[in-house]
Amino acid sequence: MVIEQTIPSLRNRVRQWRLQGESVALVPTMGNLHAGHLALVKQARELADRVVVSVFVNPTQFGAGEDYSSYPRSLEQDVALLARVTTGDLVFAPTVDELYPEGQEETVYVEVPGLSEILCGASRPGHFRGVATVVTRLFNCVQPDVAVFGEKDYQQLLVIRKMTAALCLPIKIVAGPTVREADGLAYSSRNAYLTAEQRKRAPLLYHSLLTCRQAILRGGCDHAELKLEAEKRLCEAGFELDYFEIRRADNLAEPLGNGERLVILAAARLGKTRLIDNVVCY
Ligand code: PAF
Repeated sequence: MVIEQTIPSLRNRVRQWRLQGESVALVPTMGNLHAGHLALVKQARELADRVVVSVFVNPTQFGAGEDYSSYPRSLEQDVALLARVTTGDLVFAPTVDELYPEGQEETVYVEVPGLSEILCGASRPGHFRGVATVVTRLFNCVQPDVAVFGEKDYQQLLVIRKMTAALCLPIKIVAGPTVREADGLAYSSRNAYLTAEQRKRAPLLYHSLLTCRQAILRGGCDHAELKLEAEKRLCEAGFELDYFEIRRADNLAEPLGNGERLVILAAARLGKTRLIDNVVCY
């Protein structure tokens, strides 16, 4: 497994591949890789000749008081894991100065209005601006043909699709299905923050989404009622709810009730751990 830390050395490698006529896929990550990431890398492997996995804990997507400094950094372990499953070709692990050469005071941002201020964006102001900014930079560094993002971060996926289309970037955005543990909890690097007791309760988030989806598919159309039921169930189980929402799958707007595709999304804290999850409903 090759590790590149600078943009020129990364570009040099990619140039060699391009000269051989090879296509390139990018899987952006913040490291601390788990089964969910590995599934994305395997998917990327099917889509292109070469796979770049970026490992970068992006400071601009963390708000004040969030876990930027304590976010798990485990590059050596990540590289070993990728090498074991032999699905990646190159790990791009730049420093903050490499990816943000203009510095913190003069950071040039990419904004995706409309999608960025709602749901997770409402409780994490600036988060999606940071995501759009770093993903644009990674796209410019790697210049992939295709990039793979997990559906678990559904809002992020839509933000990136919108940004890629708006900036006319010639990159295909592919969604990877959410990978779950046996009890339904979606894999996330932040699951490691859960205590053993919280870990037992955590799958209820997913099960509440499934219950809501089942009710909708059976014809339940009182969304306010369905939301209330889910909120009550989660609050009683000790979740501190950020939101539980039924939205249009294409743009996260409130449903119009004309049979459009829906997605049910939830974010909640268990202790100090913020969990997010979603299920599409069609
Ligand atoms: O989903 C993530 O891990 C991050 O938000 C991403 C896309 C790698 C950008 O930092």
